[in-house]
Amino acid sequence: MKEAVGSILDFAPRKLIRPGLVLLLTQDAEQLGCAAAEVVAKQLLAKPTSVLALPTGRTPIGMYRFLAEMCRQGQISFHSATTFNLDEFVGLEPSHPGSYHTYMRRHLLDHVDADPARVHIPAGDAPCLDCECDRYESEISRAGGLDLAVLGIGENGHIGFNEPGSPLDSRTRVVALTPSSRAANAHLFACPEDVPQQAITMGVGTILEARRLLLLANGPAKADALYRALHGPIASASPASAIQLHPNVVVIADTTAAARLPEIAT
Ligand code: PGA
Repeated sequence: MKEAVGSILDFAPRKLIRPGLVLLLTQDAEQLGCAAAEVVAKQLLAKPTSVLALPTGRTPIGMYRFLAEMCRQGQISFHSATTFNLDEFVGLEPSHPGSYHTYMRRHLLDHVDADPARVHIPAGDAPCLDCECDRYESEISRAGGLDLAVLGIGENGHIGFNEPGSPLDSRTRVVALTPSSRAANAHLFACPEDVPQQAITMGVGTILEARRLLLLANGPAKADALYRALHGPIASASPASAIQLHPNVVVIADTTAAARLPEIAT
């Protein structure tokens, strides 16, 4: 790995929220993407056969851009890695422009050397959705479990599409999307009514079984959700609060998303 990799992780301010839960602060979305890519790159370098859970949304776009560039430069490889996306809309074919299959091709898969046989994204158009959820769980187990789960956080505190009220021991399943989540994804569709009503999501319990979590939060709209995730009660009303139950978590937040955290003032 070239010297550039690791640099942001070395200089970004770092706060220990509690043992096993570290917060890295970045100035902006660009730095956040770079720092997140460095965490993933280090994981791949330490274990080329890593099993990763991957998010979609606006936040990780920068991370994927940096990862694609590192791959292009030969610093990292996805060839032996296995990936599992956190979620997918129900009812969309993989080729639909609003699907997370399309998102992943656009932002990562078309630009890296991932082996298609080891790339997993829930089939939102499966004839039996419950069978697809069970199959997804089995595939994760067969791969040896997740080494690193990269997560975004919704304004409503969701992780994956585990909306408020999701049991903290939930598994991969079909869920109804909240108006907040449908609105946040409206930009992927021709009109807001086209956003699907349901999704398949990895469960909170499935995510918590990953050996390491990396949670990304960018922008002032995430400040409340991030505060509740790190300092609120651990409750299904804020599914991201489940990360407090995990022994090995890195949170990377820009200064606006971290604005409500008491650690920032100290
Ligand atoms: P965003 O979505 O990055 O587009 O804000 C994150 C999420 O909802 O998990």
